[in-house]
Amino acid sequence: MTIEKVGVVGCGLMGSGIVETCARAGYTVVVREIDTACLQKGLDRVTKSMHKGVSRGKLDQEDMDAALACVQGTTDLTALADVDLVIEAAIENMALKQQLFGQLDQICKPETILASNTSSLCITEIASATRRPDQVLGLHFFNPVPVMPLLEIVRTFQTSEETLETARAFGESLGKQMVLARDMPGFIVNRLLIPYLLDAVAMLQNGLASREDIDTAVKLGLNHPMGPLTLSDFIGLDTILFIADAMYKEFRDPRFVAPPLLRQMVLAGHLGRKSGRGFYDY
Ligand code: CAA
Repeated sequence: MTIEKVGVVGCGLMGSGIVETCARAGYTVVVREIDTACLQKGLDRVTKSMHKGVSRGKLDQEDMDAALACVQGTTDLTALADVDLVIEAAIENMALKQQLFGQLDQICKPETILASNTSSLCITEIASATRRPDQVLGLHFFNPVPVMPLLEIVRTFQTSEETLETARAFGESLGKQMVLARDMPGFIVNRLLIPYLLDAVAMLQNGLASREDIDTAVKLGLNHPMGPLTLSDFIGLDTILFIADAMYKEFRDPRFVAPPLLRQMVLAGHLGRKSGRGFYDY
């Protein structure tokens, strides 16, 4: 099967990056948000990011205009009826995702592949809301999507070979490098990243070093583009807590227990960049 038209559900940070990446690769993209205000905000994010690509010489103005012309926004899920692939990038809530996948299963044509960008929820459980679990898989992108070269493909034991092949060809057409993981919370990257980020928070909590020194140590000692506390603010502390809790629930491994400091910061609304305050002020 060849993908020509892509549906994206959710135009937040990840959804808008996915929309941009697909449109720049020449796909027709229909993106659905819950209301017009959220939709406009998401589409503005796509335009702003493309402008940045143009100003950095990564994209021609002409290609930007052509890509934007490929994007159609909607608040109506039925507008996704004729897409070949749906990538869901809604909030991390199993009940909501199951409801969405159940509706998409009814709305979309029989051959449509349904993918989730979830970073920690069980794809098999999401797929169980559909009558096509062989056409359901995880496509996990990384933020910022147009810049990060990796795409994790997540297969359940029901995902068919044909679905995987189509997904691989699609990922390649986006210029992404792909890795294949089984349906376990965290897949490959977050299975390694989350314990590392939690350790950095615990280090700060326990007074081992200042936030600046923890970040500088990793940036200069390991050549990472960002230190762990800057990266945590970038990802969102609520997102990290959600993934850590999901991983602990599944594995009962103390490596995934969130330090109290992280939980308290989330409760206090200090979520990182998105709320203007996290380990640093923005
Ligand atoms: N299109 C194309 N290129 C773009 C672009 C766009 N819209 N926006 C930026 N770029 C390019 C820039 O031109 C620049 O390229 P060069 O290096 O060739 O000049 C590059 O992207 C970096 O952009 P900036 O100069 O604006 O920013 P930076 O150098 O400060 O880097 C960063 C920013 C890419 C975010 C970098 O700090 C980084 O890689 N940080 C780590 C990010 C990371 O780990 N992300 C994964 C998070 S985990 C996740 O997402 C999954 C999960 O489940 C939690």
